[in-house]
Amino acid sequence: MVVEHETRQWILLCQCVCVCVCAEAASAPTSRIATFSNFESSGVTIGEAAKGAYVVWKERGWRLLVVMECSRGWALVLPSFLVLLFASFVGAADEAKRIPTTLEGPFKPYTKKFDTNLRTGSDDLPLYDPRIVKRVPAIYPEQIFLALSTPDAMWVSWVSGDWQMGPKVTPLDPTSVKSVVQYGTASEKYTMSASGISEVYSQLYPFDNVLNYTSGIIHHVRITGLKPNTKYYYKCGDPTLSAMSGEHSFTTLPATGPANYPKRIAIIGDLGLTYNSTSTVDHVAENNPDLILMVGDMSYANLYITNGTGSSSYGQAFGKDTPIHETYQPRWDMWQRLVEPLASRVPFMVIEGNHEVESQINGESFVAYKARFAVPQSESKSGTNMYYSFNAGGIHFVMIGSYADYNKSSEQYRWLQEDLANVDRTVTPWIIATTHAPWYNSYRAHYREVECFRQSMEDLLYKYGVDVMFHGHVHAYERINRVYDYKYDPCAPVYITVGDGGNGEKLELIHADDDGACPDPLTTPDKGFSYLSGYCGFNFTNGKFCWDKQPVWSAWRDSSFGHGIIEVVNSTHLLWTWHRNQDEYDEIVGDQIYIVRQPHVCSNQNNLLRRNKSVRFFRGSDSR
Ligand SMILES: [Fe+2]
Ligand SMILES: [Fe+2]
Repeated sequence: MVVEHETRQWILLCQCVCVCVCAEAASAPTSRIATFSNFESSGVTIGEAAKGAYVVWKERGWRLLVVMECSRGWALVLPSFLVLLFASFVGAADEAKRIPTTLEGPFKPYTKKFDTNLRTGSDDLPLYDPRIVKRVPAIYPEQIFLALSTPDAMWVSWVSGDWQMGPKVTPLDPTSVKSVVQYGTASEKYTMSASGISEVYSQLYPFDNVLNYTSGIIHHVRITGLKPNTKYYYKCGDPTLSAMSGEHSFTTLPATGPANYPKRIAIIGDLGLTYNSTSTVDHVAENNPDLILMVGDMSYANLYITNGTGSSSYGQAFGKDTPIHETYQPRWDMWQRLVEPLASRVPFMVIEGNHEVESQINGESFVAYKARFAVPQSESKSGTNMYYSFNAGGIHFVMIGSYADYNKSSEQYRWLQEDLANVDRTVTPWIIATTHAPWYNSYRAHYREVECFRQSMEDLLYKYGVDVMFHGHVHAYERINRVYDYKYDPCAPVYITVGDGGNGEKLELIHADDDGACPDPLTTPDKGFSYLSGYCGFNFTNGKFCWDKQPVWSAWRDSSFGHGIIEVVNSTHLLWTWHRNQDEYDEIVGDQIYIVRQPHVCSNQNNLLRRNKSVRFFRGSDSR
C-alpha cells in the first residue's frame, strides 16, 4: 500500500477540473512550457494527447502544469469525460511510479546501469575556491558547527585563530580567546549566554623533511534551556575582544515523542573536498533538512602529504612500514568551511571513518576528529565521540564506531547493549543506527571487510529491533533487503550504503560477483583497523566467497554520487530517497522506498523486551 495514494488521486482529479486544454490541429505551432521556480519535481510529460498541454507530475505532491499558447485555432474546454480519461491516464502512470514498501520484500536484485558518459572521479576544489578559504580576520570565529546534545541543548563549535604549518610550529594558547555563545529567540536580542571549553591539537612528525601542523583554537560550548520547534538566533566568539561572529540561527527539533518527527533528515557519506562534494552540499541545502548525519570519511586530509600535494593512497615521505603517514591537516579547516553554511544552522552529527584514523607517532589516532567535533558522548553515557546516541523526536539514533573496539567483551559492546535495552519504543518508536563500514556489501571494494564487526554486534541490533542502519565507506549506493545473518527476515534491519558524497577517490563500479572480480579472502580486511579484530571472512555459505550474480540480499545497486533523505511519516512508515548528484535536483530517479515497521508482528520492535517477556524471532530460509 502506498501512503496517501488515494489522496493524491483526488487532488489530481480536482486539479484536472481546472484544466483548459487548447485543442489544436496537428499542424498547430508548438506550445511552450513555463517554468515555476518552486516546482518541486519534474517527471513524466503527458502532453501529446492534447497539443499545448503539458503535465508534469511527481510522486511527492502532485503538480499540474498546463501552458497554452495558440497562435491560431481555437480553444476548447474538453468535456468532462475527457478530463476523467486524462485523470485515469495519469493515475496509471502514478501506479507505474508507485513507491514500494519493505512489506513487499525481499526485492529482486537490481543494478542500475552506470551511464558511461559520466566521470567516475571528481576534481579537487582549487585551494583558492571561495567556499574553502578563510573569510574572517584571524581571531574571529569560523568553521561554525552545530551538534545535538540533549533535546533541550545544542553544542556550538568553532575555530578562531590561524593554523600554522612549518618545520617548527608553536601551538596557540587556547585560553587566549574566550568561548562564549550569546543566544535568544529574537534577532539581535540575546537573552541567554553560555561559556565552554577550548583546545588546540597538533600533528607533529619526527622527520626533518615533512612539515608539522598546529590548529587554530577550537571552541565547544553547550547551550541549554532550548524549547522544541523554536528558532534561536546566536553569535559566538569572545565578547571581551569584540571578536564575535555574525548572527546565525537554527530551529530546534520537535520534542521527544512518538508523534513528533524532524521533517527531513539528510544522510551523507564520504564527502571529501571536490566539485562533486559541493554538488552534494548544494543538493542537501536545497532539500532543507533539519538534521544531518555524516557517516564518516570527511576531509580525506590523510590522502595529502604535508606540502599539500595529493597522494594516491596514504602518502608518506618517510619510507615504507612506518607506523604513521603524512596528512595535510589544513584540509580539515577547508572541509569545515565547505560545510559551515549547513552546519551553522542544522545539527550535523558525525561518526568516524577510516580516513579519520590519522595515527600519530605517540600512538594516538583520531586526534583531529576528537578535537574538532563535540557530540553527545557524556549525554549518552558513552564517554567518547567514537560512538554515542541521541534522540530526535520519535527517533533514537545510535552512532556506532567502526574503528572503536567492537568485540563482545569491549566497552563499546557493553555500552551499545545498555543503550538499546533502555530505548522505550512507546517514546521513540524508531531506532536508526549508523556506522561507517558496511556489514552487507556486494561491491568489490571492502567486500566482507568487517565480518568480525558484523558477527559481533548483529545479534544486538536484531534483538533490539533496529529499523535501519546506514553506512558509508564503499563509494557507491546499495540497499539491502531486511536480513539477519545473510537470510531474509521481515523483522531485521534494512541496511543502506550511501558511500559517495563526492570524495576524490573514484566511484566503485565493480561488483564482487562480476567476472574475475572476487577478491582473495585474505586481502579483504582493511589494514587500517585489522589490529582490532583479526579476520572473520571465512564464515560464508556454501564455501564460496563471492556470488556469481547479484546476491539475493542485495536489493538495489547504483554507482552514483549523492545523498539520502529520510522523511518519517509516522511511527510505522518512513520514506527513504536516494538523491543522485547526476540528476536534476527535482527529478527523483534514484532509489525510493517506504520502510515500514511492524511492531504488532515483530516483538523485537516493541517494548516486550523491556518487560522481560519472550521474544518471537522470525528466521527466513537461507537466501543463497
Ligand atoms: Fe571509508
Ligand atoms: Fe571513503
